[in-house]
Amino acid sequence: MHAGLESLGIAVPPTYVELAELARARGVAPGKYVDGLGVTRMAVPLVDEDTVTLAARAARMALDAVGCAPEDVGMLVVGTETAVDHSKPVSSYVQGLLGLSTRCRVFETKHACYGGTAALQLATDWVRSGSAKGKKALIICSDIARYGVGTPGEPTQGAGAVALLVSDKPRLLTLEAGSGVYANDVMDFWRPLYSKDAVVDGHYSVQCYLDALEGAYKAWQETAGNAGGEGYSSDRFAALVYHVPYGKMSRKAHRHVRTLDGDKEPDASFERLVGPSLVLPSQVGNIYTGSMYLALASLLSSSREDLTGKRVGLFSYGSGSCAEFFTGVVSPEAQARVKALGLETLLERRRALSIPEYEQIMNAREKLDEKPAEETPGTGFRYLGTRDHKRIYAR
Ligand code: HMG
Repeated sequence: MHAGLESLGIAVPPTYVELAELARARGVAPGKYVDGLGVTRMAVPLVDEDTVTLAARAARMALDAVGCAPEDVGMLVVGTETAVDHSKPVSSYVQGLLGLSTRCRVFETKHACYGGTAALQLATDWVRSGSAKGKKALIICSDIARYGVGTPGEPTQGAGAVALLVSDKPRLLTLEAGSGVYANDVMDFWRPLYSKDAVVDGHYSVQCYLDALEGAYKAWQETAGNAGGEGYSSDRFAALVYHVPYGKMSRKAHRHVRTLDGDKEPDASFERLVGPSLVLPSQVGNIYTGSMYLALASLLSSSREDLTGKRVGLFSYGSGSCAEFFTGVVSPEAQARVKALGLETLLERRRALSIPEYEQIMNAREKLDEKPAEETPGTGFRYLGTRDHKRIYAR
């Protein structure tokens, strides 16, 4: 049975910081962030937004795009590394906010930025095996990427969610069996239980990402090559979508893959094969679990090439680490469907924050888990605060 992405939805905060402005405030040449890292804007959530509200908003868009009824969702998984509770999963709040059926398997997955991909692979196997019995899986990657103010990681923050509806009607992308995985216990990036900010050994994390890419890519070549009986290389792809902590990382990744394939000019194909996938991420920043899927949405909404029936290579990396290289084939009308979501317009409508405003929000977010809930219930998916140790949301 075929399985893959039937629809997708994106949520980003309505506010962002201009990276050139952040660079000036930190006494750094703007070129370092904009060209050196390849990011122009980073999304910054206001205090009424958290991993739950972003997830619910993205899911609403994915379900509405194909008119999916609540009772048709048989599995809801949220992949996140910025959960809101040690025990209760983000997915339970989302189930409540969206009014999904009680006959639904609901849980959360964690493995840094790989958590969403772990859930997606599980859901795809569930559909392929026939166990889904016609039901769909809603996989949501939702995160708020946060490093300390003034640290080298600061310009690589971001926030957002991507929801993926997985079913046996893959109107966007059919996922192919035969991926390559790579896992290695490394301390490149982590967030201790007592901290809101991630800790990162930045340059080492870049090397860990590239090592994992090589491991997963070679594993995929062996698996897919054995199944297909031919030597597989990246020449098979009309596009490559890499995990994007910042745009320059995708360039390094692509250079590495092409070099492994023996390409003497490994950068020559970058703009054609990778460029369209970076249009949206360069304006949002790192959204951890959702980063690679935002890049996929960017490819489908920005590419000028007709990708129908063409193959896309996908590389997901989660620090710590676990990585997977897998592939999908673009469905007819997929690009028109994603364009119709108006993702570029969604980003254009956002408001720029001044640096003092951004710093004030960063401080306020430290105490969000204990903020007393507002009395006025309000509407829309908003985080209102806590009451009797319970998180309260506007529906
Ligand atoms: P840094 O040390 O401040 O920057 O931090 P740098 O000195 O390495 O410079 C960055 C680039 O800017 C360099 O380019 C410079 O040459 C260039 P490169 O050599 O890499 O090609 N540059 C300039 N370019 C133009 N004009 C200028 C200029 N000046 C310098 N004036 C670092 C960079 C990425 C380490 C830091 O931002 C960081 O620690 N970020 C967080 C970690 C991260 O994103 N790691 C990525 C791999 S791990 C991963 O992806 C997993 C993750 O998503 C987490 C998860 O899985 O959950 C992070």
